Amino acid sequence: MSIDLAVVPVAGRGTRLLPLTKSQPKEMLPVGRRPVVQHVVEEMVRSGVRRILFITGAAKSAIENHFDIDAELIAHLRETGKEDLLAELAFERENVDYFFTRQRRQLGLGHAVLCAAPMVGDAPFVVALGDSIIGMGDASDVTRRMIDEFDRRSADAVIAFQEVPAEEVVHYGIAESDGKPGDVFRLKRIVEKPSVKEAPSRLAVAARYVFSPKIFAMLRQTQAGKANEIQLTDAIQHLIASGGGVYGVRLAPGELRYDIGNYESYFRAFLEFALADPQYGGEVRAALKRILD
Ligand code: G1P
Repeated sequence: MSIDLAVVPVAGRGTRLLPLTKSQPKEMLPVGRRPVVQHVVEEMVRSGVRRILFITGAAKSAIENHFDIDAELIAHLRETGKEDLLAELAFERENVDYFFTRQRRQLGLGHAVLCAAPMVGDAPFVVALGDSIIGMGDASDVTRRMIDEFDRRSADAVIAFQEVPAEEVVHYGIAESDGKPGDVFRLKRIVEKPSVKEAPSRLAVAARYVFSPKIFAMLRQTQAGKANEIQLTDAIQHLIASGGGVYGVRLAPGELRYDIGNYESYFRAFLEFALADPQYGGEVRAALKRILD
């Protein structure tokens, strides 16, 4: 089975990255040569997705502009003999349709996903958080693996997980596995941002989900939870409690997750992508060495 629709929530204000994000979406911050959200879209396209629905918000129009075909810019590059730069715009011509809807009230990630319901209809879909990159370049096929497991197990949801240090569980949805967790495991419970003491494991939700449309019924009955927001994690817990088949797929050891929601991991992500740049990586490495020595 293939799933051709990805919902990409990009409505969050990015307050942890102020002042960078005052008038610029965090999803448009550069990581290496691309804005974060272009990395996410390219990952989706590699997984077979052909329709992308962005759940946007105020001050996010740069995202729409980025995925437009900019005929004027293309003509300008041709006229000024900069044809070599046209390759940098090749992503504009990907075989993808883009859709945009506004989350008109900031009621949380669960509410953002619920905004997709009228568009999704009755088919399974992917949710890819627009501020997180998984793997560098084409190093990750985790969404593809998740879609395969969704199909094989006739699941209601499949979620990507990554093991995090104990003190970091407070930032993530955390899973309790039904039995000893292997690379793929069934969830017994999931809890949003537990304290270190309450956390049932160190398996943290890693920004990618595959859902059957059943999640919408769960979201509709989900009350505001942590941070007084409608939490996607709480709707997933309802799905588990109602007998739904919810599975986790672990990221492979080399499949790193880059979270562009805070400065610490944003700086690290930028540095790693800059170091891996085929043209400038060597110079960046030499410059860093000089600084550190
Ligand atoms: C959201 C989810 C959380 C998940 C995290 C990373 O939190 O609520 O369960 O672990 O994304 O995928 P946020 O980073 O928006 O606070």
